Amino acid sequence: MKIPSLRLLLFTFSVLFLSLSVSCTTSNPVLDGFLQCLPKYSNSSYPISDQIITQESTKFQSIFLSYIRNLRLLTSTTTKPLAIVTANHETHVQATVICAKENGLHMRIRSGGHDYEGLSFISYISNVSYIVLDMFNLRSININVEDESAWVESGAILGELYYNIAEKSKVHAFPGGVCPTVGLGGLFSGGGYGPMMRKFGLTVDNIEDARLVNVNGTIVDRRSMGEDLFWAIRGGGGASFGVILSWKIKLLPIPPNVTVFRITRTLEQGAIDVLYRWQYVAPKLPKDIFIRATSQLHNSTSQVSKKTVKVVFNGLYLGQKESLLALVNHSFPELGLEQKYCIEMSWINATLFWAGYRAGTPTTVLLDRPKAPEILFKSRSDYVKEPIPKAALETIWQKILAMEMLQMQWNPYGGRMSEISESETPFPHRAGNLFKIQYYTLWANETDTKKYLDLSSKFRKAMTPFVSKNPREAFQNYRDLDNGANWNNQTDTKTATVYGRKYFKNNFYRLVSVKTKVDPENFFRHEQSIPPLPHK
Ligand SMILES: Cc1cc2nc3c(=O)[nH]c(=O)nc-3n(C[C@H](O)[C@H](O)[C@H](O)COP(=O)(O)OP(=O)(O)OC[C@H]3O[C@@H](n4cnc5c(N)ncnc54)[C@H](O)[C@@H]3O)c2cc1C
Ligand SMILES: *[C@@H]1O[C@H](CO)[C@@H](O)[C@H](O)[C@H]1NC(C)=O
Ligand SMILES: *[C@@H]1O[C@H](CO)[C@@H](O)[C@H](O)[C@H]1NC(C)=O
Ligand SMILES: *[C@@H]1O[C@H](CO)[C@@H](O)[C@H](O)[C@H]1NC(C)=O
Ligand SMILES: *[C@@H]1O[C@H](CO)[C@@H](O)[C@H](O)[C@H]1NC(C)=O
Ligand SMILES: *[C@@H]1O[C@H](CO)[C@@H](O)[C@H](O)[C@H]1NC(C)=O
Ligand SMILES: *[C@@H]1O[C@H](CO)[C@@H](O)[C@H](O)[C@H]1NC(C)=O
Ligand SMILES: *[C@@H]1O[C@H](CO)[C@@H](O)[C@H](O)[C@H]1NC(C)=O
Ligand SMILES: *[C@@H]1O[C@H](CO)[C@@H](O)[C@H](O)[C@H]1NC(C)=O
Ligand SMILES: *[C@@H]1O[C@H](CO)[C@@H](O)[C@H](O)[C@H]1NC(C)=O
Repeated sequence: MKIPSLRLLLFTFSVLFLSLSVSCTTSNPVLDGFLQCLPKYSNSSYPISDQIITQESTKFQSIFLSYIRNLRLLTSTTTKPLAIVTANHETHVQATVICAKENGLHMRIRSGGHDYEGLSFISYISNVSYIVLDMFNLRSININVEDESAWVESGAILGELYYNIAEKSKVHAFPGGVCPTVGLGGLFSGGGYGPMMRKFGLTVDNIEDARLVNVNGTIVDRRSMGEDLFWAIRGGGGASFGVILSWKIKLLPIPPNVTVFRITRTLEQGAIDVLYRWQYVAPKLPKDIFIRATSQLHNSTSQVSKKTVKVVFNGLYLGQKESLLALVNHSFPELGLEQKYCIEMSWINATLFWAGYRAGTPTTVLLDRPKAPEILFKSRSDYVKEPIPKAALETIWQKILAMEMLQMQWNPYGGRMSEISESETPFPHRAGNLFKIQYYTLWANETDTKKYLDLSSKFRKAMTPFVSKNPREAFQNYRDLDNGANWNNQTDTKTATVYGRKYFKNNFYRLVSVKTKVDPENFFRHEQSIPPLPHK
């Protein structure tokens, strides 16, 4: 009986105490301790109290949901953080780290919220209370054209970066991803890629410096964090190592106009033959050409109610139409690329084309932040090192038809990707890979979740003979908890080795050694984080 009364006493005390100091009090002593700690470590010119959103706040629900992309992650059992700190000054980030640690609170970091499993705002770790540090207010972008570089904050989204580059220069770009709403914090730290990867490599191959809040709440840059930690955060995932405040990126030279195209082939139009050839050609084309193949279900136009599959080939070429046609005609006549499919436009317009916007859409659309999600989905990835035989492609297609809702996106590797060694950054999927597949299963109603997750797993199993093995490699930014996950408070090294080898191959062991050095107590952790070695 002693413990409850002591708790009551503490509770009463904290309510009394807090009502005198901060206006917002809670019924949780750990949270109260955290909230009282925050102002001590923040710059008082930027009051942190305005940035604290507890569950009691009327703004909580809308802020919590604001960057969620996938309704699958929101169920009646989804855990919620005790509070969200919407930092708008670097000292708020420092204070959040220091105070969460001091009060034994677990912490999640969110930039753009696009994590496929929601690990930036949901914790599946049982019995551990957590808070979310939300970075969306820290989104400044500073372009320096003379220096061909830029400093960008983690809470900026890709569209904002593209827009700002194009405002300053028509002949510079950055090789980021396709979807403009992805946050730079997660995208860069996980090794993000886009349709210029065959020319310039990944985002992380073009980062020159970074500023990070470490486990002690200290701000460090490349020089003061050291090359090991700087290596780790370029592909090893930020959330195992600290909070990345900002990045210094290289701006890369592009021609004033690039060429894009989109060609669709249905099964009847020989989609399988074209895709079969694509496997041989797309990874070997000159670096300036990127052709992504996406398979989608679609309704046959000739036979109403008959479902079939189409493959869409999206192209980006860093040059003019004529030379593209000559190159593709020569090496990939099966595609049937013709003048009429090719459109020359500025790189910034090409980012809109790739993101699926209609011609004529103003570039300011790139500044839009995500709206509420409407779909549920599950994504996975695989790497392919040998072309898939034609007969197997036919079988795969039959399975897609049976599943009803599966898209596959095939992204060609080769070019610059093959020139960079596997250990240059934590991202290991370099030479020897023909392409990466992303499987994307979507559905509209929560009642169907189990059915589609099962189908997605079944399909993945069927792909086993055609993809990488030992480990079955996967792209960390396409996070998939089925790759292995820790569900309890300690990051089990054996389990971590399972997902770690898939995401990082042998780079996993170097990540563990960096982690052991910079966060031996494992403060920065989540279901798929890098574990420190146990204390000797
Ligand atoms: C619609 C869509 C399109 C996508 N397109 C692409 C693409 O073209 N190319 C590509 O490479 N990927 C793509 N992705 C995957 C995307 O790169 C990852 O989901 C990425 O992690 C998202 O970053 P975020 O900041 O938006 O996510 P968040 O959910 O905020 O964060 C993802 C992870 O990074 C951690 N993190 C976030 N910010 C920080 C920080 N400042 N410091 C330390 N850790 C941090 C989080 O804690 C979490 O573990 C896409 C995803 C979606 C949903
Ligand atoms: C707090 O911010 C103000 C205004 O930007 C600045 O002048 C001051 O130096 C900062 N104080 C500390 C301790 O960082
Ligand atoms: C979580 O707490 C409950 C209730 O106290 C307990 O039964 C359970 O074992 C705990 N789970 C873990 C993983 O610690
Ligand atoms: C196919 O047709 C059905 C029924 O007419 C419709 O509900 C569905 O949205 C269509 N799907 C596509 C991909 O066009
Ligand atoms: C490409 O090939 C097509 C048909 O084979 C032909 O009509 C076209 O002129 C060729 N274009 C170039 C640029 O070679
Ligand atoms: C770029 O393309 C646009 C639109 O097609 C065209 O008007 C313009 O002349 C081109 N500019 C260059 C430098 O080729
Ligand atoms: C880019 O798109 C805008 C809006 O559609 C258009 O006015 C402009 O001409 C385009 N520029 C180029 C070079 O493609
Ligand atoms: C989801 O399916 C259930 C059961 O079939 C149905 O009652 C419900 O209206 C559906 N919800 C939506 C949003 O379509
Ligand atoms: C969870 O793990 C952290 C870090 O190892 C530790 O500090 C904390 O006490 C643990 N919390 C619980 C509830 O076990
Ligand atoms: C954090 O502080 C402790 C104690 O001063 C120190 O031993 C450790 O090296 C520091 N960690 C980092 C990453 O700077």
